[in-house]
Amino acid sequence: MEIQTIGVVGAGQMGNGIAHVLALAGYDVKLNDIKQEAIDRALDIIRKNMDRQVSREKITAEERDAALGRISSTLTLTDLGPSDLIIEAATERETVKTAIFEDLVPHLKPTTILSSNTSSISITRLASRTDRPERFMGFHFMNPVPVMQLVELIRGIATDEATYQACARVVERLGKTASSAEDFPAFIVNRILMPMINEAVYVLYEGVGNVKSIDMAMKLGANHPMGPLELADFIGLDTCLAIMNVLHDGLADTKYRPCPLLTKYVEAGWLGRKTQRGFYDYR
Ligand code: CAA
Repeated sequence: MEIQTIGVVGAGQMGNGIAHVLALAGYDVKLNDIKQEAIDRALDIIRKNMDRQVSREKITAEERDAALGRISSTLTLTDLGPSDLIIEAATERETVKTAIFEDLVPHLKPTTILSSNTSSISITRLASRTDRPERFMGFHFMNPVPVMQLVELIRGIATDEATYQACARVVERLGKTASSAEDFPAFIVNRILMPMINEAVYVLYEGVGNVKSIDMAMKLGANHPMGPLELADFIGLDTCLAIMNVLHDGLADTKYRPCPLLTKYVEAGWLGRKTQRGFYDYR
């Protein structure tokens, strides 16, 4: 089961990073979104990020041009059908993801592997809505994708070994490291990271610290590259809240209760960097 053509669904923050690293590793990438503006923006970001890599001598101009030439785009989801692997990186809502997989199924090759970049939703449940739960994986990249070393690979209950190994070979070819996680809410990274971020929001909510002191404490006191509130803005507060809700619902433990202040920010539309306002003001 050798993979060469990869479809990426969703041209947002994660989708453009995934297309970027796949193309640089030599894969033929087809990027899909429902909006042409999203595709145009993604291609522009990919080019700028690759230019930065050229200027820092991480890649050559020839490698950039070849990689950009390997990325094509489409507004028609079903054009991705003939891919060897499809990585869904659409919005973190289960109904959206399920609808994408259901639309794709009639157009797939028998051997196509389906995967989702979900940061918390059950892989087993997503897989059960397709015709191929044995060829379905959780393929979870970290943000920013071109920089972060880890990819979490999550097997659903029915995922077979050949599928896991084919995906692990892709991760290896990207020069990244795979960590294998079992399919329980939010897997490994977000099971640990999100309660920490949520606790930082509680610390703010209860007045123990302010935005600056909380972030400085964790940067200088725990050597984190970003403070938890800065990181929450970077990930997106809506995504953070969605993951806390998956933990709270899936594990039924009050220790995962989303902080009311996090909920309030999301209700205000203050989603972090992407809306120019979150715990910090980026305007
Ligand atoms: N594409 C390509 N390269 C990029 C990039 C991008 N999008 N963003 C940053 N870089 C490169 C820079 O060019 C720079 O390269 P050099 O080392 O060659 O100079 C390097 O990354 C460092 O970037 P900067 O100098 O601009 O800034 P920095 O040193 O402050 O690092 C950071 C930025 C890498 C984002 C760092 O702050 C960091 O690691 N933050 C934590 C990120 C993190 O925790 N991510 C995980 C989030 S959780 C997640 O993703 C899971 C989920 O499901 C929610």
